[in-house]
Amino acid sequence: MNESRKPSVSRSTPLESSAAVGSALAGLSLARRVHAAGSDVVKIALIGCGGRGTGAAVNALSTKANVRLVAMHDAFRDRLDNSLRAIAKQCPGRVDVPEERRFTGLDGYQKAIEAGVDMVLLCGPPGFRPAQFEAAVKAGKHVFMEKPVATDAPGIRRVQAANAEAKRKGLAVAVGHHLRHEVKHKEIVRRIHEGAIGPIQFLRIYFNSSGVWVYQRRPDETEMQYQVRNWYYFTWLGGDHIVEQHVHDIDVANWIMRGHPVSANGMGGRQVRIGKPYGEIFDHHAVEFEYADGTRCFSVCRHIPGCWESFSEHARGTKGEANIEGHGRSVLRLDGGQTMTWDRGPDGHQLEMDDLFAALMAGQPYNEADWGAEASMTAILGRMATYSGQTVRWDDAIQSPLDLAPETLAWNAKPKPAPGPDGLYPCAIPGVTKAW
Ligand SMILES: NC(=O)c1ccc[n+]([C@@H]2O[C@H](COP(=O)([O-])OP(=O)(O)OC[C@H]3O[C@@H](n4cnc5c(N)ncnc54)[C@H](O)[C@@H]3O)[C@@H](O)[C@H]2O)c1
Repeated sequence: MNESRKPSVSRSTPLESSAAVGSALAGLSLARRVHAAGSDVVKIALIGCGGRGTGAAVNALSTKANVRLVAMHDAFRDRLDNSLRAIAKQCPGRVDVPEERRFTGLDGYQKAIEAGVDMVLLCGPPGFRPAQFEAAVKAGKHVFMEKPVATDAPGIRRVQAANAEAKRKGLAVAVGHHLRHEVKHKEIVRRIHEGAIGPIQFLRIYFNSSGVWVYQRRPDETEMQYQVRNWYYFTWLGGDHIVEQHVHDIDVANWIMRGHPVSANGMGGRQVRIGKPYGEIFDHHAVEFEYADGTRCFSVCRHIPGCWESFSEHARGTKGEANIEGHGRSVLRLDGGQTMTWDRGPDGHQLEMDDLFAALMAGQPYNEADWGAEASMTAILGRMATYSGQTVRWDDAIQSPLDLAPETLAWNAKPKPAPGPDGLYPCAIPGVTKAW
């Protein structure tokens, strides 16, 4: 490890007092705050200690800033312990999370936010993001939050309102759209914006894969514990895979189009991924998004093994086309024959943290939540279209009162989706379901 990046905060510096100093210094740039607090250490809390949370913490601890992980929260203790072990192994000397700063349950995030940290990484299921983001902003913390930022329109509006407060307070807010930081994406989208392929005629975007993990119910769990463990398969928690994963490609389409679509129509269903463990989500969605200038974006996402797989975005213009692979070689081809290619280059998950901490330490404003929220809302708009079978307008979708979250958040509370007598959860029926 680079000597200059060894942790320089002394263990005798009580975190509680630095929390008090931190709040007294709210409004200063992080660089000035940490300097004023007598140390160059940036203290972070990880909230949501799964695969991505673990990776995001390692990415944050691997930037040029002197970052220290000092608090963690996960709904479940076993997830926190596994993550802590993995992070400590990969980042020796940069982790200081004693027992009293390990928090669990559905409300433990509040304690992690209050544990004397400068920044929180929000990496749990997206259904919890709006409340956790609100709490972090209220407490004056800088935020890195994973995509998607919410799973329904009320959640998006909460994130937008909290983000307005974050801007007023001068807080940095990053959203985990790592493709925005990858060199190939930046180079190609810049050229598209400069007119290299001419006005866009249409876009195609894909997130087709064989699917993700599934968690099997245990007899000793409440319904809430089960759904939070198996969060991917419940729309209030994960948003369905069009929101949870395809939002990456949807964001690239919005980036290219410099805004969000005005309407969507589409179709979807569950053909293969049916059965008790698969909750209520679809295994395929196909959506036609229409942008304000009439340009269409054709979006397809599928979670079915044994089929054509693609994580990619494509734009066709009057003078050429761009074919961008999510994590692979990308090509800009002009109709005259000229071709430019880019290999993937450095991983955007590291680049996004490098960019965030560089801005923070330089005291520069940093906010990705406007377009982050717009991308999540676009994906939700697509889901509204596939669940309902209707054409859905953005202006109606964003105003939707349909709140998917449970009335009460507690392990013994009842989530809205409930299994039938056969153990199966009802799923949306196009033509019948009211989805916004
Ligand atoms: N940007 C990317 O490339 C990328 C990649 C993977 C995942 N993600 C995003 O990261 C998020 C997490 O995904 P993951 O793959 O790490 O899932 P995961 O299941 O591995 O991790 C989620 C963790 O959150 C915990 N959790 C559940 N309820 C919680 C709560 N109320 N508060 C705090 N933690 C809670 C779970 O116990 C689990 O440990 C998702 O939003 C996902 O879309 C982004």
